[in-house]
Amino acid sequence: MKPQLSERVKKRDFPGEFLEVILSAASDPSTISFAGGLPNPTTLPVEEVSEASKKVFEKFGYVALQYSQAQGFLPLRQKIADRYKKTMGIEYSADDIIITAGSQQALDLVAASLVDPGDEIVVENPSYLAALQVFHHYDPKVLTVDLNEDGLDVEQLVELLKDHNPKFMYIIPNFQNPTGLTYKEETRAALAEALKGTDTVLLEDNPYGELRFTGKSGNSLAYYLGEQCCALGTFSKIVSPGMRIGWIACPNKELRDKLVMYKSALDLHTNIFGQMLMDQYLEDNDLDEQIRKAAAVYGEKANRMMACMEKYLPEGVEFTRPEGGMFLWVTLPEGVKAVDVQNAALKRKVAVVAGDPFYEYERDVRTMRINYSNSSDEQMEEGMKILGEVMAEYIK
Ligand SMILES: Cc1ncc(COP(=O)(O)O)c(C=O)c1O
Repeated sequence: MKPQLSERVKKRDFPGEFLEVILSAASDPSTISFAGGLPNPTTLPVEEVSEASKKVFEKFGYVALQYSQAQGFLPLRQKIADRYKKTMGIEYSADDIIITAGSQQALDLVAASLVDPGDEIVVENPSYLAALQVFHHYDPKVLTVDLNEDGLDVEQLVELLKDHNPKFMYIIPNFQNPTGLTYKEETRAALAEALKGTDTVLLEDNPYGELRFTGKSGNSLAYYLGEQCCALGTFSKIVSPGMRIGWIACPNKELRDKLVMYKSALDLHTNIFGQMLMDQYLEDNDLDEQIRKAAAVYGEKANRMMACMEKYLPEGVEFTRPEGGMFLWVTLPEGVKAVDVQNAALKRKVAVVAGDPFYEYERDVRTMRINYSNSSDEQMEEGMKILGEVMAEYIK
């Protein structure tokens, strides 16, 4: 039998393969992986979640194993709303929050609810690979705005908005994936100003914002844009990615009702046991302390990685110096293709990700993303030594 595949999946190949290579490399224990965005295993709260699980069954019995409702477990939604107030000064009610299977599902829900084939959307250039993938399923016309050292090139956006009316704009303003860049406060304010008065939804994705190890956090775009902003969040990088619990804060009722409706058709609801478990974990533990510990680990890892890069990477290779998050962004000298370095390094059992698939249009690029959150000090030393040797071959 030859399955009669839809055009939607037939068209999408290149980034899929790319992602597969990254993930399979990351799961091969003989490969040193700087490829994925995995939390360090030492930060995962195994004991605490195990304790919480017993309590969930004591408290809820069979209800923890029963069907539940699409918008999510109310006490958990309330905790998320309270946390926005506490950490960012933003007022949401539990009603504004929808629990999703990670923020990845939230990206899908928003795209599904807003985009018809051919509709315009705006993304950062470069942007998060798996977001581009999910958006492509809805056949949008993708417009891009470049990133720069202030975050985003707002002038470019202002020009773009003169001729276009995008359904949504997707940004990752804190420790962006893949570049590690963070928007300056002026950039956030100017971006909000540019969007105000339009019907473009600002989709703010913020998985890394709390993982800051130095410097001061900026405001969420929700602070400037109110209900024009849909804020995505996740427990993946701060508690556990495997539990698959993220959320959408969407104060616009018309959009929120459609998101819930679509979510209900897609998977009925997010795993209720997982939601109760997360809620119990948050009841019994200090999330701020958990985040402080994780951020301290990543701060140390980032410093160690930068020291290894300085020691082993050839002259002319540049990299960003992150203040948080999990990624460094490397730029190779003129004429060197990052994909070639990536493929040669993989043969020597070191996985990195070339920048190519993070760009919507540009393919032949000199950039690559390096993850520092999930490797031991020894792996960093050895992996960077090999990467340096491979780069030197191509730079020659
Ligand atoms: C920018 C960005 N958005 C969303 C996600 C998806 O995270 P989740 O595990 O919450 O689905 C990731 C994961 O790496 C990410 O980097």
